Amino acid sequence: MCKIISVISCKGGVGKTTSTVNISSYMQMHGKRVCVVDLDPQHNLSKHFGIHPGQIANQPTIYDLFNAAINETEDEEMVQIIKQSVVHSTTVDVIPSSAKLSSLETVIPTATCRERLLEYILSYIKNDYEYIFLDCHPGLDMFTLNALTASNSVLIPVEAHILSSDGLDQVEKMIRMVQRRLNQELRIEGVIITKYQGNTNYCKQISELVTRDFGDHIHIFDSYVKYAIKVAEAPVFGISLHEYAPSIDAAKAYANIASEVMCYG
Ligand SMILES: Nc1ncnc2c1ncn2[C@@H]1O[C@H](COP(=O)(O)OP(=O)(O)O)[C@@H](O)[C@H]1O
Ligand SMILES: [Mg+2]
Repeated sequence: MCKIISVISCKGGVGKTTSTVNISSYMQMHGKRVCVVDLDPQHNLSKHFGIHPGQIANQPTIYDLFNAAINETEDEEMVQIIKQSVVHSTTVDVIPSSAKLSSLETVIPTATCRERLLEYILSYIKNDYEYIFLDCHPGLDMFTLNALTASNSVLIPVEAHILSSDGLDQVEKMIRMVQRRLNQELRIEGVIITKYQGNTNYCKQISELVTRDFGDHIHIFDSYVKYAIKVAEAPVFGISLHEYAPSIDAAKAYANIASEVMCYG
């Protein structure tokens, strides 16, 4: 059975894409069939996997899939578009994004079953994978709402920085709303503390604050992802940390988190 996992936050730069890449890659390296979907018009996830816009200029992206779903495209054509959109990289499969995706922000609210478009799109591929990751763009908009409605669970990266942990209550509110109205099965997989610098009191205080305010009802992964320049370097080579620098603490933290997620199904 396929588990669909959203990676969300209302802030940018907190490590959503980095977490998606390194958790999904670790799972794939351990024999799982994994697909990642880039839901950010800035298409950083696609770039992390070495996919550049020029390379996919002639094939459909998540933009075309949303468009097809909005236009109630026939089944057979839908299957073709989805098949063509999947990039089979050397590691995980990727459905890339495109800058055009943001143009749909004003169109989606007018579509039939507007919160369920992504759920419908993924219904065509979910039997092919054990895990599908949805890398959302910052903010709690229609794309994030679609991602949460389509998902079994959510990972929430929180940067060890006061402004980042600030948004966690808004994220939780949105998740609870989706659980009530759209997707009762949705679970919070956990909070990932990212860019952690253990030698600073500041980071320690933030992680304590998150644990104090949310730890009694939201799982906070024990493995904090430490700040390391190698984490930011890996995408330049289009590879994950497990290939680029497997021995650093941040790679081990992502390995532990991925193992924990796999362990619980
Ligand atoms: N643990 C880390 N140590 C150092 N840099 C990191 C770490 N995690 C993420 N980064 C860098 O921070 C920037 C933002 O991360 P990213 O994953 O793209 O955030 P988001 O997807 O939430 O916008 C990127 O340049 C990324 O390489
Ligand atoms: Mg991102």
